[in-house]
Amino acid sequence: MAEAVLLRSAEVEVRGEGCELLLYSEDFSRVLPGMIRYTVELRAAGDVLYSYHTNTYEYPPGTLQNAHNVAMTAFFRLKEELPHRPDAFLLHPPEPLPARQPRAPAAEVVLLQGSPRPHGNSAVLAGWVADRCGEAGLRCEVISPDSLGVEPCTGCYRCFNSGRCVIEDRMDEVITALDHARLIVVCTPVYTETVPAALKAVIDRCQTLRAGRALSGVQGRGQAGLLLAVAGRRGPENFVCVRRVVGAFFTSLGVRAAGEVLVDGVDELTDIRTMPGWEEEVRGRLSGVLEGVGAAPRL
Ligand SMILES: Cc1cc2nc3c(=O)[nH]c(=O)nc-3n(C[C@H](O)[C@H](O)[C@H](O)COP(=O)(O)O)c2cc1C
Repeated sequence: MAEAVLLRSAEVEVRGEGCELLLYSEDFSRVLPGMIRYTVELRAAGDVLYSYHTNTYEYPPGTLQNAHNVAMTAFFRLKEELPHRPDAFLLHPPEPLPARQPRAPAAEVVLLQGSPRPHGNSAVLAGWVADRCGEAGLRCEVISPDSLGVEPCTGCYRCFNSGRCVIEDRMDEVITALDHARLIVVCTPVYTETVPAALKAVIDRCQTLRAGRALSGVQGRGQAGLLLAVAGRRGPENFVCVRRVVGAFFTSLGVRAAGEVLVDGVDELTDIRTMPGWEEEVRGRLSGVLEGVGAAPRL
């Protein structure tokens, strides 16, 4: 967790009780360069009755405000107004960081199947992974971003205030699953050198998970990541960008990249199942990675 630097404090009387109003900053530069989060907090007897957050990334260059000024304004307005209009601020207690409890027992392995084709080669790879996990007694949840209608990230950076995304869609389910997985598998075709758009939207929206982990000080939970990719054309150069995108995804969440299987030249044969050796390769790689995350497969 980032260290808090106290910028302002004041004693205020609210509903006849002596309270402390604080303005402090936290430096999240190790997560995003130059990011400072400001917090204005009202405390009474150790309890936080009200909190307000803003951060430097929320204000693009064309806006007239900046986080420091907004935080200062909030502090002085609260100092003035809280004693006279407490209900305007204190009706809703501050929300804690999201606990993200899964509804059902969490899957040990979560696989993002990036192809929009539900019966394509990436889906075949995903099936091999799910089979192997089943044999090993592990739950594997396969998530197909294309079927979820996840909106793209808007870059508002408000997730760094609350650990939550302001967009209401099914991304919450994805984040809960990813947060609890021991192994995250990204299984994707190469689309114009990178990953398909729906998978990219999910990857970008994982900024919320990254923010939640930064705010709570949790990093990666010892998670491992595996990349399985298929390219229509022949040659390792077809995977350069996908490897970087998925590598950056893992790094941003503190996930240890534990291996990859890259299958090229798929379009000539159209069906990966007719290409000898790949199923064994995927199953073998997966077994090794599962042992590494303490989910040793039962053979
Ligand atoms: C829009 C689009 C872009 C693609 N771009 C590339 C590419 O840049 N390089 C490549 O090797 N294959 C490319 N392909 C081919 C796919 O990677 C290949 O057909 C793959 O097997 C599709 O995976 P799937 O069967 O899981 O859907 C592209 C396919 C589509 C539909």
